[in-house]
Amino acid sequence: MFINERLNEALKKREAEDALRQLRVSNGLVDFCSNDYLGFAQNEQIKNYLAEQLPQLRKIGSTGSRLLKGNYSLIEQVENQLAQFHDAPTALFFNSGYEANSGLIASVVSRHDTIIYDELCHASLREGIRLSAATAYSFLHNDMAALEDKLQKAKGEKFIVIESVYSMDGDVCPLLEIVTLANQYQAAIILDEAHATGVIGNKGEGLAQHLGLQHQIFARVHTFGKAIGSNGAVVLGEPVLRNYLINFCKPFIYSTAPNYLQVLAVSKAYHLLQNGEAAIVQLWENINRFKFLTQRFSHISILKSDSAIFSVIIPGNEQVKLAAKYIQNAGYDVRAVLSPTVPAGKERLRICLHSFNTELEILRLVKLLEQIVTIIDNDTTEEA
Ligand SMILES: Cc1ncc(COP(=O)(O)O)c(C=O)c1O
Repeated sequence: MFINERLNEALKKREAEDALRQLRVSNGLVDFCSNDYLGFAQNEQIKNYLAEQLPQLRKIGSTGSRLLKGNYSLIEQVENQLAQFHDAPTALFFNSGYEANSGLIASVVSRHDTIIYDELCHASLREGIRLSAATAYSFLHNDMAALEDKLQKAKGEKFIVIESVYSMDGDVCPLLEIVTLANQYQAAIILDEAHATGVIGNKGEGLAQHLGLQHQIFARVHTFGKAIGSNGAVVLGEPVLRNYLINFCKPFIYSTAPNYLQVLAVSKAYHLLQNGEAAIVQLWENINRFKFLTQRFSHISILKSDSAIFSVIIPGNEQVKLAAKYIQNAGYDVRAVLSPTVPAGKERLRICLHSFNTELEILRLVKLLEQIVTIIDNDTTEEA
């Protein structure tokens, strides 16, 4: 069929650019790439809790959207639990962070408004921006002068869309400065806390609460597919926002509600955070250990990070893929992030640290990085 030819052409082009994406089944290597920062996806307490609850469940699937048969008291209780934990007036559960981000922005922002978003914002936020049809300006990553410049140009209601921790670079947004500008220009902030949830703050409450700025943010999105070890997300905000989303947000209205096991897993994970989960301390010990060790090798080009995500820049899709393979062959699961996912020249090994990585594993990984950079440096010198 003609359409298949067109699809094939697009795939061939990707292949020629060394940028073809392929699915792989996980491999039993040492995990330096998953988003399971606290090991909650494999946590025995959470698994045992689900095993205890399972026989008591009348059903697993929610069997409908929230507005039809899919609403149930457990999901509302957990929304209240999460709203309390995050010091928010209300919470609304979504099936994924992608749906929460895209649905929130697409429904709340009108085409007469202006959205100003950080240039490194996640695809789910961009999708919401596209669907809203609002005037949208990106601003230079974390650059407050650029943000202010765009705020001055904005018409209609103004929205600032940002992330607490940027998922590719691992750095943190200057939230206090952004809140100050938002107040000055009467802009509403939409904050994606995906990679800050469970990571930033003593209890993993996220950046806004850690800085005491939670009441200055219009909508916060916390996702559960990363440190919480499950999947789904909540949008936190005033009751009017929750009611509005229930009425106007398409991914919420027209999708089957989250299932019981997912909601129970999220609830248990948050109980662990509430009770001062030791894994957060272990995670930060490992983050600091990795930073300390890599700083000894100044020629390893690592982007500044204040989170569990570290990017080692190795320009070129082919080169970075070879580097990932080298580390994988040594038993460590590190993935290459290729262009066009990141800009050409900024291809990288994206390394995620976890509470469960051992001191020895981290040391060995840093040594492997050092070897790779030395090999590349030598190659470049020979070519020159
Ligand atoms: C910053 C950010 N926001 C949102 C999402 C989407 O969340 P989910 O995986 O729950 O759909 C991701 C996932 O990769 C992310 O990195």
